[in-house]
Amino acid sequence: MAVTIKEIGNDQVERMAQIFLDCLQIQYKDILPSEIREAFTFNRSLELWQKSFTSDPTSKIIGAFVDGELAGFTKFGPSSSDSKVGYLASLYVSPDFGRRGIGRTLLEYALTQLQSYKRVQLWVFANNRPAISLYEALGFLATGIQKTEKEWGTLQILMELDNSQSRGTNNS
Ligand SMILES: CC(C)(COP(=O)(O)OP(=O)(O)OC[C@H]1O[C@@H](n2cnc3c(N)ncnc32)[C@H](O)[C@@H]1OP(=O)(O)O)[C@@H](O)C(=O)NCCC(=O)NCCS
Repeated sequence: MAVTIKEIGNDQVERMAQIFLDCLQIQYKDILPSEIREAFTFNRSLELWQKSFTSDPTSKIIGAFVDGELAGFTKFGPSSSDSKVGYLASLYVSPDFGRRGIGRTLLEYALTQLQSYKRVQLWVFANNRPAISLYEALGFLATGIQKTEKEWGTLQILMELDNSQSRGTNNS
């Protein structure tokens, strides 16, 4: 399976919205309450991802394509609270393409792009074992910082990668 990684633009927004919805209904089935998952219509998902192209222009959105079809995407850039910290904002792989290494490939690509940051942070649902396993495999650790947002009604944990430790860089 040949996977092409490249920056994506607004022309892929409908496919991104569909991947996000499919992840909500399938991958998040036992992670998010059903009323929260069901409240997400295609139009709401579309609006969310349309905004993602304009809300923080310093971030990049990168897609993984299989035979020309967008199979997954990730969004990353500087943290909005500390520009010295890198931030992984999103990582979604279509359930149709799950467990074939695409999530890992996208994450590795993002982390390479974020190598100049001393630390990289991300939020993940505390009960999202598949994602936490992937993040741990690439060196992320739980920070102990947690939050529960009303929109999701589910505990999230902040994970962090120390680039100076795990990737051999010495940037400050
Ligand atoms: C988490 C996610 C990105 C993984 O993508 P993927 O392409 O299926 O994952 P990969 O095939 O690259 O697998 C990489 C590692 O992830 C973990 N993993 C992925 N799916 C898993 C599952 N169903 N159960 C347990 N671990 C899993 C494993 O550690 C796996 O490594 P291994 O295959 O050597 O065991 C994908 O399942 C997804 O989009 N989930 C919904 C959205 C999400 O949770 N995003 C993260 C938000 S913070």
